[in-house]
Amino acid sequence: MANVTVIGAQWGDEGKGKLVDWLSNRADVVVRYQGGHNAGHTLVVGDQTYKLSLLPSGVVQGKLSVIGNGVVVDPWHLMSEIETLRGQGIAITPELLVVADNACLILPIHRDLDQAREKAAINKIGTTGRGIGPAYEDKVGRRAIRVADLADREALEAKIDRLLAHHTPLRRGLGLPEVDAAALLADLLAMAPRVLEYARPAWLLLDQQIKAGRRVLFEGAQGALLDVDHGTYPYVTSSNTVAGQAAAGSGLGPKGPGYVLGIVKAYTTRVGEGPFPTELFDDVGRHLGEVGREVGTVTGRSRRCGWFDAALVRQSVALNGIAGIALTKLDVLDGLPTLKICTGYTLDGAAIGYLPAGLRAQAALAPVYEEMEGWTQTTQGARSWKDLPANAVKYVRRIEELIGAPAALVSTSPQRDDTILMRDPFHD
Ligand code: IMP
Repeated sequence: MANVTVIGAQWGDEGKGKLVDWLSNRADVVVRYQGGHNAGHTLVVGDQTYKLSLLPSGVVQGKLSVIGNGVVVDPWHLMSEIETLRGQGIAITPELLVVADNACLILPIHRDLDQAREKAAINKIGTTGRGIGPAYEDKVGRRAIRVADLADREALEAKIDRLLAHHTPLRRGLGLPEVDAAALLADLLAMAPRVLEYARPAWLLLDQQIKAGRRVLFEGAQGALLDVDHGTYPYVTSSNTVAGQAAAGSGLGPKGPGYVLGIVKAYTTRVGEGPFPTELFDDVGRHLGEVGREVGTVTGRSRRCGWFDAALVRQSVALNGIAGIALTKLDVLDGLPTLKICTGYTLDGAAIGYLPAGLRAQAALAPVYEEMEGWTQTTQGARSWKDLPANAVKYVRRIEELIGAPAALVSTSPQRDDTILMRDPFHD
């Protein structure tokens, strides 16, 4: 299979950054197709740590990297991330980085709105506060400013007026100060040349790359259960995070995404509000958070932690068409005497094998667990299947059985090479 799509199969933070970095080595092009700088991808290469929120992870390996039309782009953040990476010795040039000219922009007014709504606790979601939701609202509301508009002063002026006609009453309602249209225009015009350097029709470039036989890696952000349609709505992000979006968010047809690799953490975490059936409030939950260093890359918030939920991932396998999984952070379970896996739920006393759509039903689910014996040896840094303790192998095998997808990779530390490869997604 020529292309691979990497998606988070839970609520995000599954360790996609490392796997995407690892797979970038085997790819020619790396594409982001949804979300914005709400993502937090940490890449550890030797003694260097790179923190990316918006740029495709391929930039670290010097691969052609594309920010597709499905991404919402904060131009100021884009520039600061490019500068930070340059400071770490990573060269980023318009030959290496392409931003879709039809991607929509995140503006300061979006961040204001996001943060004001969270503060006012109207429908509090626990967002990253970076303006993602309001930017997508303007996109589907057909009033967003797109990258290409930066090259057209007249269009930009008209679009700012249209945008402010919508935002001004919203801002008044939330007690936010009026926006100065002329200042916003001046800021955008000042920024424009720096962004336009990278702007191109990304769909055309990708079409050419694929016709030339290049291998494309699609890098998902967030996780399938944060998908605006399929996730725990309304406690979700504002984009489609499922693998199907790799096609629409980059401008390729449905064959584009290729092999879908679901990144699955060996336990479960989530940040922000919303239902979480296997959440733990005890010492085991604290242990997972501490050993797994479960703190958000973007917001610094502690993540909520719980047992592995096989019902949730089984649903994700179906929603994304996952062909294989990469299991991450198995080493965080090292030393726990007993492990629990959620195999399904009960709802009002009846068995149910999936996460229902209703909020009340989601909150009322009681997990059904099976127990497994843990292992005392360390799995950290294992690079071959035979380096794993027998009970760790049993744990992985049971997960495969319950979710209905094989493990293609197991990641055993944040380091790039601490990875056990069972199947190469690019050759499966
Ligand atoms: P937003 O994407 O900032 O609108 O936040 C909506 C929800 O998605 C919140 O619960 C966030 O915590 C969550 N979220 C957004 N990005 C990420 C991520 O990269 N990892 C995990 N959760 C995320």
